[in-house]
Amino acid sequence: MVQINPNTEWAGLELHYREETSSTNDDCKQLMRQGAPHGVLVVADSQTAGKGRRGRNWISPPGVAVFMSIGLRPGFAPESAAMLTLVMALAVAEVVEEVSGLEARIKWPNDIVINKKKVCGILTELQLETVNLTQYSAYSVVIGVGINVNQTFLDEEIDATATSLLLEKKETVSRVLLVEKILECFEKYYEQFMQTVDLSQLKEEYEKRLVNRNAPVRVLEPKGEYSGTAVGINNRGELLVQREDGMIQAVYAGEVSVRGIYGYV
Ligand code: BTN
Repeated sequence: MVQINPNTEWAGLELHYREETSSTNDDCKQLMRQGAPHGVLVVADSQTAGKGRRGRNWISPPGVAVFMSIGLRPGFAPESAAMLTLVMALAVAEVVEEVSGLEARIKWPNDIVINKKKVCGILTELQLETVNLTQYSAYSVVIGVGINVNQTFLDEEIDATATSLLLEKKETVSRVLLVEKILECFEKYYEQFMQTVDLSQLKEEYEKRLVNRNAPVRVLEPKGEYSGTAVGINNRGELLVQREDGMIQAVYAGEVSVRGIYGYV
């Protein structure tokens, strides 16, 4: 997996490859603290402490998957950085579909799903860069992507809800090609995103891939739960849910978990 040559202006031009590491997100965060450039990439063949969302672990065996993290220095307010996760989800879904030929959908906000099973997860982390002990002048973002590519079987704990590209396609898929094309596609979408610092230009493409669209969802908020129908996203990437009383509510990714009423999606 070492010869990765994306055709990009900045994404993945500085590349750190590790045979084994604890977490590419942690490595990338450290590189950013040390002043690495926008677009720096860490790729590993395996991880010993891969991190998932909500404090879960991410199973990271050698030789069969993609573990990559990209470091970014966006100039905009940190409140907008969460939207970059959706930008990455769109890029990964498009590339997975192009490279594997399988229909890839997005489970809001950022799981990539094939045949209703999860094939990729994305973890975005923000860190403030301290200039002295009381002030910060800037922040960086690390977006980590884990894709199940050539696994012939999955761990029992995720087997019911997850899959790999090989299990779905019955053919191996090139991990290098996936990484290169994701970098190229992400760079293109990032530049589009930067023109407005919102998802207005990408919303339509994202909604086409949204597996929850027009599907019943149950929103689990800290304040309580309710059911409704997901109707799309707004320009800030919030999920629009029409409640049973007809009211449309914007659901912010940081606050809630959205469950499909039928199974994983
Ligand atoms: C999820 O829970 O869906 C997010 C999983 C993110 C996993 C990737 S693998 C590469 C990067 N390094 C990590 O430790 N996590 C992310």
